[in-house]
Amino acid sequence: MWNWQLNKKDTKVDEGEVAGIDPSPGMIEEAKKRSEGIVFEVKSAEELDYENHFDVIFCNSAFQWFREPEKAIENCFRALKSGGRIGIQAPAKKVYCPNFIEAIERVKRDERTRDIFKHFKSPWFFLETAEEYRKLFEKFGFRVVFSKIECVKTRHTPEEVFDNLLFRCNCWLPESGVLHC
Ligand SMILES: C[S@@+](CC[C@H](N)C(=O)[O-])C[C@H]1O[C@@H](n2cnc3c(N)ncnc32)[C@H](O)[C@@H]1O
Repeated sequence: MWNWQLNKKDTKVDEGEVAGIDPSPGMIEEAKKRSEGIVFEVKSAEELDYENHFDVIFCNSAFQWFREPEKAIENCFRALKSGGRIGIQAPAKKVYCPNFIEAIERVKRDERTRDIFKHFKSPWFFLETAEEYRKLFEKFGFRVVFSKIECVKTRHTPEEVFDNLLFRCNCWLPESGVLHC
């Protein structure tokens, strides 16, 4: 579960094995271009079928899209070696980025853009507190050492937002197409 902001220098693998999964073929193609020595598979977290294999799993900004989060967590627990660790970063609450959500609602209503945005899907899996996330992972055997919801504010020009959205749409369509703040 790879992060698109990394580049070849960050992801060069000198020793050990690094695997990356994503169910979007476009995202995997993009990841291949930006990395070296990583084995990628077009696969969802719900299909992860490793056992006692990894020391670390990192999942960046994908958890909110999992159709069966419990199955995915169970798979991750099984894929980790005893004492292995998992790190998850994701937009946490339902209203994860108020400005972005409001903008999407507007373009969905606007007659100039509503046709284009009619298939737009919002991410669906959210819990509202860090405690709920902690309990979810504990249910599948994890000892949670850190669970926190942080409010992160960043400012972007319209061009930056457009570039980011375009990049993501190119990679994901038709399976999904949304970014988080
Ligand atoms: C916001 S992007 C993040 C991509 C990448 N991890 C990053 O940090 O740049 C969300 C990603 O979650 C992926 N995704 C959606 N459902 C998934 C699932 N069930 N298992 C794993 N990844 C999934 C999407 O295909 C998409 O590439």
